[in-house]
Amino acid sequence: MANSAAPIGHTTWISVANHKGGCGKTTTVVNLAAEFARLKFSVLVIDLDPQANASLHIGKKHPSEVAVTCVDILLKDNPALPQAIHSDTNIEGVDLIYGSLTLGKAEDELKDLSPRPSEELRQKLDPLNGIYDIILIDCPPSLRLLTSNALAASTHYMIPIESGSQYGLYGVHDLTHHVEKLKRINPKLELLGALLVKHDERQNVCKIMERAAREQIGKLIPIKIPTSTKVNQAAIANMSLHAVDRSAKISREFKDLAQYIVNELKIKPIDHESAD
Ligand SMILES: Nc1ncnc2c1ncn2[C@@H]1O[C@H](COP(=O)(O)OP(=O)(O)OP(=O)(O)O)[C@@H](O)[C@H]1O
Ligand SMILES: [Mg+2]
Repeated sequence: MANSAAPIGHTTWISVANHKGGCGKTTTVVNLAAEFARLKFSVLVIDLDPQANASLHIGKKHPSEVAVTCVDILLKDNPALPQAIHSDTNIEGVDLIYGSLTLGKAEDELKDLSPRPSEELRQKLDPLNGIYDIILIDCPPSLRLLTSNALAASTHYMIPIESGSQYGLYGVHDLTHHVEKLKRINPKLELLGALLVKHDERQNVCKIMERAAREQIGKLIPIKIPTSTKVNQAAIANMSLHAVDRSAKISREFKDLAQYIVNELKIKPIDHESAD
């Protein structure tokens, strides 16, 4: 964790990663992005998942109708970045680079085509450094090249863990091992922590998971995301949890999570007016 203030003009890149499916990666990306935007940070979401759930939630278009997606960024020599970035989204202040169903195929092609297949995203999106305050990357539920590209491009990563499931930590060793390997190409990558999702203090399984997550991952984010039916409501309505019900406990926890990260990383919104 960085102990000094982030340099001016510095972009914080956060991958939300766990190869375990359905542990809350996309929900975390969408709602954290909304909360960072409410704190006046300029925010970009990159959807690197072939399921394109973040795009379906945040985007105004269907991913299949979008001309330039993460596929083009990964595979093309000079992808058109301005066309890839969509500022007209369902969440105010949050820009989006769309995912695509064809990302899975792109991942296979990347392996054959690129000399450094894990570093395409970092290289192609380098011009965004200093443009956004915070870039959040939604990873797919796998440890293959798409997740490697996200981690190689990131300054930080967080690991959502489904707290209410006794299997929530199953395979987490593979993830930590994968990150350690990735650090050979991105030595500055830092762990923000494990984030307990669908957490209920009263349940024994959640207490056990909390202890186990701290032991196995090494760092636990002190904010815990409770189970809430509002998550599905918000996704169906293409809104953030804050917009659906700002006073709900889960909305307050995402607000606190954003503030926690801002405090930990000592980041401030870039003054884009005077930065030119
Ligand atoms: N805190 C929560 N309370 C209740 N339901 C939740 C919560 N968080 C996520 N869910 C639900 O659990 C499911 C999985 O969540 P989400 O899509 O965020 O996980 P994911 O890790 O991105 O999944 P995948 O690995 O498939 O990309 C979704 O149906 C979502 O609505
Ligand atoms: Mg997802």
